[in-house]
Amino acid sequence: MNVAVMGLQWGDEGKGKAIDFMARDFDVVIRYQGGHNAGHTIYYKGKKLALHLLPSGICTPGTRSVITHGVVVNPLALLAEMDDISAQGIPIEDFYVSADAPVILPEHQRLDEVFEEARYEKIGTTRRGIGPAYEDVAGRRAIFLGDLLDKELLTAKLVPLNRFFNQLISIHGGETVEIDSYINEYLQAGERLRSFICDTVPLLQRFNEQGETMLFEGAQGVLLDLRFGTYPFVTSSVPTVGGLFSGTGLSHKQLGRVVGVTKAYTTRVGEGPFPSELFGPVSERLRALGNEYGATTGRPRRVGWLDLVALKYAVDINGVDELFLTKIDVLGEFEAIPVLTDYRQPDGRIDRHFCADARRLSKVDGVYHELPGWRCQLEAMRKADELPVEVWDYIRFIEAYVKIPVRYLSVGPTRDQTILLT
Ligand code: IMP
Repeated sequence: MNVAVMGLQWGDEGKGKAIDFMARDFDVVIRYQGGHNAGHTIYYKGKKLALHLLPSGICTPGTRSVITHGVVVNPLALLAEMDDISAQGIPIEDFYVSADAPVILPEHQRLDEVFEEARYEKIGTTRRGIGPAYEDVAGRRAIFLGDLLDKELLTAKLVPLNRFFNQLISIHGGETVEIDSYINEYLQAGERLRSFICDTVPLLQRFNEQGETMLFEGAQGVLLDLRFGTYPFVTSSVPTVGGLFSGTGLSHKQLGRVVGVTKAYTTRVGEGPFPSELFGPVSERLRALGNEYGATTGRPRRVGWLDLVALKYAVDINGVDELFLTKIDVLGEFEAIPVLTDYRQPDGRIDRHFCADARRLSKVDGVYHELPGWRCQLEAMRKADELPVEVWDYIRFIEAYVKIPVRYLSVGPTRDQTILLT
């Protein structure tokens, strides 16, 4: 059965760990949206690896890895990551990347910076050019990875595009970018990637017909979705389930199950509303205990308690079947653990309506239910029956609220620190 794994919060839920744990049961692991704004952390032979573009299945021998046309690719970042991973002793084999993946150009990065400066409210993007590259797809002027294999075609496409970009950059007071400053490097990158580049739509259809099982690796999270997330504080791709179909060319009939990954609390990087956000000493304690610093940019993450209203929204709009609950071990020191169950609207009404409009969401207050803490370390536990009753109470409370089971429980960063609950 083909399975999708997606983040149900604002990214950084521990998808890398979840995929790495599950990958051994699948033949193919597929990245289908986002770009190198993602940071999927996994532990390989005791070493911490942060993957940004390569599917997390790359660390599982015998697993195929595919990057589809739904992903925006900076070819230099991809090659740097491939080199880095090879240097760790992990072979890059059985790896495929779509010829139709939109390319992130240096101009996109520059535009990301100048647009961010010019906005009336900062989004806090990763400044990797993700938004401008997706804009080009919608604007029908994107450059694709396959174009890097043909110098003449690439140059013909780049000349008018570069003129257009530089006008935009200049208007915003930024430094323009010359094609000559990067074209050779991009062409060389194309050559190095040539043997991996292919049309991934028929490739995935073929794998499917051969009966190979596929694991779809979502990036970012549902609350960062371009339309379902807290707009405008979102990313420019579609991390919700629809992005999987448009990003791979597989149909809904080829998806069997959706596993949603959520932390036992909540974090967010960048700007935007966050109803259960914590401030002061408790937030510092939680950030330190959970080591909440961005895998891509190193920024300290904003932290808060679990927001069940937001989680239920994410579960419902994606048809999530079961949860992979991560970082529960981080809560081991707290005497009591509040979970957000309702929103108090500015007019005093209490409801469970997750309004993705950032302005409205920023005005709600959280209403909390407090659960007893377990006051012990969970990191060494490997079996469901070892878990303290308070952990079970926490899990059961979540399950009763979102109406789907927690199937996997992560009690630490490594692959073996995962407990199967059902
Ligand atoms: P962009 O994706 O770089 O355009 O950034 C838009 C927003 O999404 C910013 O708030 C980023 O911090 C956030 N974001 C993008 N990718 C990730 C991720 O992988 N994890 C967490 N936040 C992310």
